[in-house]
Amino acid sequence: MGEFRGLLIPSLCFLFGAAAVLSELACKDSHSGPTYESLQSVFDKKPFRPATNLSNPTVTNISFTLYAVLGVNEKSQILTTFLWLRLYWYHEFLQWDPEKCGGITKISLPVEELWMPDIIVYEFIDEDKSQRCPYIYVNHTGQIRYDRMLRVLSSCNLEIFNFPFDVQKCSLTFGSYMHTIRDVRVSLALPIEQISENSKKYLETSGEWELVKIQGETDILKFGIDEWDIITFWVTIKRRPVLYVVNLIIPSSFLMLVDIMSFYLPPHSVDRASFKMTLILGYTVFLLIMNDLLPSTANGTPLIGIYFSVCLALMVISLLETVIITYVLHHSAMKYRPVPRLVRVMVLGYLARLICYTRPPSQPETPSNNITTDPQEKMKNVEVSQASPELQQICRDLGMVRAHIDSLRLQQDLEEEWIHVGYVLDYLLFRVYLVLITLYALVITCMWCIWYNL
Ligand SMILES: *[C@@H]1O[C@H](CO)[C@@H](O)[C@H](O)[C@H]1NC(C)=O
Ligand SMILES: *[C@@H]1O[C@H](CO)[C@@H](O)[C@H](O)[C@H]1NC(C)=O
Ligand SMILES: *[C@@H]1O[C@H](CO)[C@@H](O)[C@H](O)[C@H]1NC(C)=O
Repeated sequence: MGEFRGLLIPSLCFLFGAAAVLSELACKDSHSGPTYESLQSVFDKKPFRPATNLSNPTVTNISFTLYAVLGVNEKSQILTTFLWLRLYWYHEFLQWDPEKCGGITKISLPVEELWMPDIIVYEFIDEDKSQRCPYIYVNHTGQIRYDRMLRVLSSCNLEIFNFPFDVQKCSLTFGSYMHTIRDVRVSLALPIEQISENSKKYLETSGEWELVKIQGETDILKFGIDEWDIITFWVTIKRRPVLYVVNLIIPSSFLMLVDIMSFYLPPHSVDRASFKMTLILGYTVFLLIMNDLLPSTANGTPLIGIYFSVCLALMVISLLETVIITYVLHHSAMKYRPVPRLVRVMVLGYLARLICYTRPPSQPETPSNNITTDPQEKMKNVEVSQASPELQQICRDLGMVRAHIDSLRLQQDLEEEWIHVGYVLDYLLFRVYLVLITLYALVITCMWCIWYNL
């Protein structure tokens, strides 16, 4: 046994010595760069992590350039981006002395033949369809540089409330899927400011989205007793709203303007009703077109969508009001009915005061029913009763004419009162309309300011 151990220890020492020699690739004088045999021996070790001491983790340095934002799908909450990813790590078996190898410091090798860290994007939710680069560069120090393109379909919580002035912040988390912190660690290859700068340079020219900034932080993901090293990049992008301003906001503003101007048509005219009907029709067509442009999610609608619905509601209400006023004024049964007390108090009293509506001064004549109670009139009646039958007849006829005129006047007064009710309602709706539209303009301006200053 002792004899056996005596044999074993020297042979183990020899093995370690061989390992130490193996960690540097062999070169021949007639050949520049490491020999094929020595490289083949490294390729044979592909399944194993290239660390001479397995207690030391392989550090992978990550950097990327955000090359394009290909799309944002609000409905399925997916952000599609295109990255140029660059990974660095040390392959401790791929080291050589450039002086012995004809001054070669860098060679390229096929990536399938070498171990590589299983760095993934945690938010990735689709298969990767991008092209893979089959080669890597390796340094004489064993530093490997691996470049690849990556089309990332990542899940992201997209907020569309501020559409089209929306800003999205999505995370891209890089880390090893399987290897815990004791085997693979990740860190940044470039300062985060530089990653951000490089990406901005490429994204400046392309597409609907503009890059605001990229932030990054390293973190440790814990799951049970295992820990994973991760880097989270926060990509903040904002939409370029020109398309939507031209196609949504400006046409809707024009329609709103026309609708506002239609309040200057008299509320009881039939023209106004048909005018408003046409406007509503036009607005509906606009809404149909808009439906394609407006994003929608299950958990919310953009503010601008709510606003369009409110505008449609206001248009319909103003049309209804026109219809009611027209009905009141043109329906003969209504003509002789006075304005109900409640309506008079509520509309002509409170509402009129609330919206500062002053009744335009009506004709200076006094109400007609005073005339019959005039004392002079009674005197005349007495005188007439003693006159000739012809005169009596004329007088009776005149009385009838007067009664008719009186009833017409009464009718006109009632109609005027109804018209006033109509005007008060119309003014109220007009004010509400103006307030809502001003509010909306303010909100849009605020959103635009926030967007602009980001
Ligand atoms: C391997 O690395 C660990 C930690 O760095 C160190 O404690 C240990 O001595 C090393 N083992 C060998 C055989 O070098
Ligand atoms: C990774 O970055 C660290 C410092 O950030 C550096 O010390 C190390 O050499 C880098 N590793 C590789 C493989 O580039
Ligand atoms: C090669 O090694 C040198 C230091 O010896 C380093 O500056 C350089 O970035 C490395 N290049 C690559 C491609 O790894």
